[in-house]
Amino acid sequence: MTEKKLKRVMIQTLGCQMNVYDTGRMTDMLYDLGYEPTDSPGKADLVIVNTCAIREKAEQKVLSSLGRLCAIKQKRPNLLIAVAGCVAQQQSEKLCQRFEGLDLVLGTRVIHRLPDYVRALENGKGPIADVEMPEENVFDNTGLRSEAETQPPLKASSGGVSRYVTIMRGCDNFCAYCVVPYVRGWETSRPPEHIVEEVRALVSAGAKEVTLLGQNVNSYGKKEGLCSFPRLLELVSGVDGLERIRFVTSHPKDLSDELVEAFNRIDKLCSHIHLPVQSGSDSVLKRMNRKYGRQDYMERIEKLRSVRPGIAVTTDVIVGFPGETEHDFEMTLDLLEQVKFDTLFAFEYSDRPQAPARRFKEKVSADDKKARLRELLNYQAGITRQIYEGLVGSIMDVLVEGFSRRGRGAGDEKDLNKPEMTGRSPQNRIVNFELEHSTKQPDPGQLVGKIIPVVIERACANSLKGKLPADEPAAEYKSKGGKIHAA
Ligand code: SAH
Ligand code: SF4
Ligand code: F3S
Repeated sequence: MTEKKLKRVMIQTLGCQMNVYDTGRMTDMLYDLGYEPTDSPGKADLVIVNTCAIREKAEQKVLSSLGRLCAIKQKRPNLLIAVAGCVAQQQSEKLCQRFEGLDLVLGTRVIHRLPDYVRALENGKGPIADVEMPEENVFDNTGLRSEAETQPPLKASSGGVSRYVTIMRGCDNFCAYCVVPYVRGWETSRPPEHIVEEVRALVSAGAKEVTLLGQNVNSYGKKEGLCSFPRLLELVSGVDGLERIRFVTSHPKDLSDELVEAFNRIDKLCSHIHLPVQSGSDSVLKRMNRKYGRQDYMERIEKLRSVRPGIAVTTDVIVGFPGETEHDFEMTLDLLEQVKFDTLFAFEYSDRPQAPARRFKEKVSADDKKARLRELLNYQAGITRQIYEGLVGSIMDVLVEGFSRRGRGAGDEKDLNKPEMTGRSPQNRIVNFELEHSTKQPDPGQLVGKIIPVVIERACANSLKGKLPADEPAAEYKSKGGKIHAA
């Protein structure tokens, strides 16, 4: 620490895993300036809102959050308020004009400049807005790949069994509805040796699982002539002590045979893939500029299932894209029925200022979008139930993450004699399980970070419930990404 007075920072993280990762980086950088993290805005000297612009609702949430914070600042003028992430990039100085009291607007490609700006603000400068998109590779020009990122031990943000590692930033795909290429910039991949080094650091700080992050991980390294994504997976899997590898997001158009083959070869790779389909209708997919058709999509899933039986597939769907007819929508429902996704995220199409689809005619009405979303979610709930009920009685390898909400004592269900723990199966299914107080059962605290077998007893809407097998020596039990024990 370089400062004497203890200062506190609260970072509110909205949006996707990219922002979660960036929040970790910012937390580390600020720790070096003497800022400890806090969850309470009342205790904070600095509040950062790390924002998302993907849909209008996400943006509205940001604006109301900033409004509230600026109101607090009227009573506490020393509070510093910063906005980072995709809305910061998108709106830049406009945010300073709109919110009196806002001190810093930090774009998505300059977060490494945060310490300099915070120092300047502490010295009475500001407001500052920087949304530059520097030409250099963001991973090579700064602190982003220096000590904080590559050398153990990681600081304030470290800890946790399952961690994210960004392997690339930006996106070059320009799907017609999407704001990401405009707010995150062009695609840039990070050198494999830095990624492996960071994974090593995370594992030595206690991580057992890493999720590699990018908007389109399958095109990793292509532009820069680095190694392929499957090769990167292999390199990461060589890190001793790492048990599981996941990745998001995979674009269906770039899901190569080499990646399919990686599921055959790399045991640590979990039996789950998130493969956003967006629509089951070829004409909608074409207008979305997704560059694959329904048939291609289904064939790729078939291939994956042939090398990794039992692999769970999840997806994203947009309903009410401009011009989507009832028939198009039914094609999407039909695709759900055929593919049988484990779960999905579904969104009503939302116009984004920079994305070309905002100019597409034949907008679907708000009522129709709502109705389609409801119908799709109901339809999928039935499929998820069917899959989950079929799992009752099976044994799953669960990487224990901690106490479940109930286990931490939330709500009326608190039962201290039966602490409830939570974790995930290789297929990324949430599994909660109770521990009885008995000599045979392990100490709950010691289970965190272990992979243990859990017998599934019940299917809930979004999770599974189970218990430890009575005669299994839990602490000894270990398996990798689910290749052998695919349930
Ligand atoms: N890079 C990832 C997705 C990132 S955004 C991919 O290509 O799959 C996450 C999800 O938000 C998308 O998959 C899409 O389903 C949804 N989304 C993006 N823009 C949207 C918009 N304008 N309206 C509604 N949903 C949108
Ligand atoms: Fe957006 Fe498409 Fe890029 Fe995903 S691949 S971030 S949906 S432009
Ligand atoms: Fe949102 Fe930006 Fe992620 S728009 S989804 S936070 S890349």
